[in-house]
Amino acid sequence: MKTIIEPFRIKTVEPIRMTTRRERETCIKDVHYNLFSLRSAHVLIDLLTDSGTSAMSANQWAAMMRGDESYAGSDSFFRFFEAVTDIMPFRHVIPTHQGRAAEKILFTVIGGENKKIPNNTHFDTTRANIEYSGARAVDLVIEEGKHPQLIFPFKGNIDTGKLIRFIEESGPENIPCVMLTLTNNSGGGQPVSMENLRTTRKICDTYGLPLIYDACRFAENAWFIKIREEGYKDKPVNEICREMFSYADGCTMSAKKDALVNIGGFLCLNDDAWATQARNLLILTEGFPTYGGLAGRDLEAIAVGLQEILEEDYLHYRIRSTEYLGEKINAAGVPIVLPVGGHAVYIDAAAMLPHIPVSQFPGQSLAIELYLAGGIRGCEIGSVMFGSEAQMELVRLAIPRRVYTQSHIDYVIEIIIDVYQKRDRLRGMKITEQPEVLRHFTCHFDYV
Ligand SMILES: Cc1ncc(COP(=O)(O)O)c(C=O)c1O
Repeated sequence: MKTIIEPFRIKTVEPIRMTTRRERETCIKDVHYNLFSLRSAHVLIDLLTDSGTSAMSANQWAAMMRGDESYAGSDSFFRFFEAVTDIMPFRHVIPTHQGRAAEKILFTVIGGENKKIPNNTHFDTTRANIEYSGARAVDLVIEEGKHPQLIFPFKGNIDTGKLIRFIEESGPENIPCVMLTLTNNSGGGQPVSMENLRTTRKICDTYGLPLIYDACRFAENAWFIKIREEGYKDKPVNEICREMFSYADGCTMSAKKDALVNIGGFLCLNDDAWATQARNLLILTEGFPTYGGLAGRDLEAIAVGLQEILEEDYLHYRIRSTEYLGEKINAAGVPIVLPVGGHAVYIDAAAMLPHIPVSQFPGQSLAIELYLAGGIRGCEIGSVMFGSEAQMELVRLAIPRRVYTQSHIDYVIEIIIDVYQKRDRLRGMKITEQPEVLRHFTCHFDYV
């Protein structure tokens, strides 16, 4: 069959409301052109993030009723632990309220002045938490990963040659771990190949370094390995995942992505000493180690979500439906990061709006116009988010899991193509007020 259907039917619905362009002009001006500051009621199709925006299944809701809310030793923790270690067989699993809490704890334990942590592409919260500890976050993605229009199956791979040089130059004693982000959200949602995971493992072994994954989208990464990498076509996704995790010493995880829940995360570690320190910090900031900032029912929902995410009908639909949006707008001329990533389509705003210099944030200008034209909320991933570290000027349209149907996406396609045809009218923007860190969340903008 050519038509890939949503592998679910809808039981509960949430109304969304149309607004006029004039209403949207007022709403966005009122929040100083920062899309994060909009009320969600003023958004029609919300593609700001795929994080925590999934629709949970009937089985997840049912499992929540089983939540054991005991302060210590809750049954829900053990069900959660088993579901995690079934895929990610690490010795220690430490629940946190979301991914960045796992990052904060990990880098408080292993970061610090004069330390450096390489990654294919650090996510913004990972970078911020590393740098907050005093360490430096360094991106070493392969050259292909920096060219939006270049087609390559695993553009999320780390440059292993550069990694070796980096370790030698920095001294392994200054590198507490090597990280790999699966898939690399800030680089276009691009996957890392099994071969790259294996080679990175070997490099880590040579220098005695731990390898830690940012595993937020591990299942989407595994699906790309299945469909793109030689030798994996006939392997079940859960086996691919187990092989992926067999090369790592731990991971940070935002369960708000590939565990299909609205809140939650965890930190996995093999190292007993690190885990002890992490648990002590957890008690200080998150909660007791068998709930870590979550309710027992949240742990139950994660446990079921981790099973559902590996269903191949789901992953097939998920990756294909994201690709569908990318394919249609690209066919109309809209420049996007190719190939289309797992969880999002990234429009190359620098290529689409060559008349707006990087210093005037082409990505922000495009994101605002998509909102004005059709009530679509995307997210700038470029110089607003990363300042001078930005490698590309992108607008990310992240697709919430199991939330929108094909007609919603067809509407998004129509709006994007319309904006593209009128792209010459878009104007540059400037920042008028900003905080010290993670400025994109709260800064104010205006037109130049
Ligand atoms: C790759 C990556 N790492 C870490 C995080 C942080 O996770 P959380 O939002 O749960 O704190 C995100 C969230 O978007 C992400 O995409």
